[in-house]
Amino acid sequence: MKNVLITGGAGFIGSNFIRYLLKAEPDVQIINIDALTYAGSLANLEHLPDNTRHTFIQGDICDSVFVERIVEQYQVDTIVHFAAESHVDRSIAGPTPFIQTNIVGTFTLLQAAYNAWGKSENKNDFRFHHISTDEVFGSLLPDSPTFTEITPYDPRSPYSASKAASDHLVRAYYHTYGLPVTITNCSNNYGPYQFPEKLIPLIILNALQGKHLPVYGDGKQVRDWLYVEDHCDAIHLVLKKGKLGETYNIGGENQPTNIEIVNMICAILDELKPASLPYASLIQYVSDRPGHDRRYAMNIEKIKQELNWSPKHTLANGLRETVEWYLLNIDWVNLIMSQNNYQNWLNKKYQNQEEIK
Ligand code: NAD
Ligand code: TYD
Repeated sequence: MKNVLITGGAGFIGSNFIRYLLKAEPDVQIINIDALTYAGSLANLEHLPDNTRHTFIQGDICDSVFVERIVEQYQVDTIVHFAAESHVDRSIAGPTPFIQTNIVGTFTLLQAAYNAWGKSENKNDFRFHHISTDEVFGSLLPDSPTFTEITPYDPRSPYSASKAASDHLVRAYYHTYGLPVTITNCSNNYGPYQFPEKLIPLIILNALQGKHLPVYGDGKQVRDWLYVEDHCDAIHLVLKKGKLGETYNIGGENQPTNIEIVNMICAILDELKPASLPYASLIQYVSDRPGHDRRYAMNIEKIKQELNWSPKHTLANGLRETVEWYLLNIDWVNLIMSQNNYQNWLNKKYQNQEEIK
């Protein structure tokens, strides 16, 4: 791995991965392409450990001329593909960019990778790594076994359907053309630099502003949560030691309900930043997300056994570190919240959500 192209490196996980890789691999050069949609920000890339080895170029992964030029110009040998539209609620409100970026964008990148790999003198050193999600597997019943790498795909939102399509394309390039690919399917991430539309930062920031804490439906939906640094660690390991053509599930090995997560955050805030009333008094049950997946749960035995990876953070200490990070980085929060019509999106969303008494 010498010249690593990261797509979506100005977003939440991509920017954390760039920080991680600059430390873990002292000789790599990183080329970061990102369209800077509402979810991407250069503020996520401030204070990198070694900025001389990071080049940011604004551009769209659906633009084949742009992508081909970058791959050739920087002699890219490794692609780590994070760029995506990533928020389920937005995919319900407007699926078009999800189809475009997640499916057409992945296809465009695969094509550029295939061309570059074909011309490469070191074919064995080339890699296309695709970042995917547990949501492609669909929704589990309370007692169903956890998702493994061979669980059939059953996506149920425009977001998960578009990610499933992109996973299929990546596998097709491996089976049909031999492109050296690996795929990771990961559970819900949380940690520093997460855009505040997602549950954990949204709850932290609403609580600090004394706003209501919206819990969809009965709040008993289950997710598996992984601290973002543990995700970066797993991706790095798959890049170094993963088998070509293989998929690895990644997860935090926990299965809290949403209301449990919200209560955990409230308890941490009560301790670190006490207010006149307990933060849990701000909890409000609101109308449910259409087609809301009830439960995701990951079986991570394969990556544990084959690559000796397991998450280092428990949910309790990961959540505490995350709350502390948001408390310490209020300038970042204010900047992100003022950008890209975020407030308009939230207001519109809340107009459509009824409070459940
Ligand atoms: P994010 O929304 O925070 O960041 C996505 C980044 O992609 C943004 O910087 C955005 O500007 C960029 N982008 C979007 N469209 C683009 C385009 N057409 N061209 C170039 N750049 C574009 O997302 P995230 O949470 O960091 O997720 C990263 C990846 O990880 C996604 O593929 C997502 O499906 C996957 N994933 C996320 C989670 C999670 O909990 N966040 C869990 C599992 C998998
Ligand atoms: P989210 O962070 O949007 O991730 P995903 O939909 O990809 O799992 O949501 C996590 C869970 O929290 C999901 O079950 C929906 C729920 N949720 C709420 O209850 N309230 C909220 O305001 C948000 C954003 C999510």
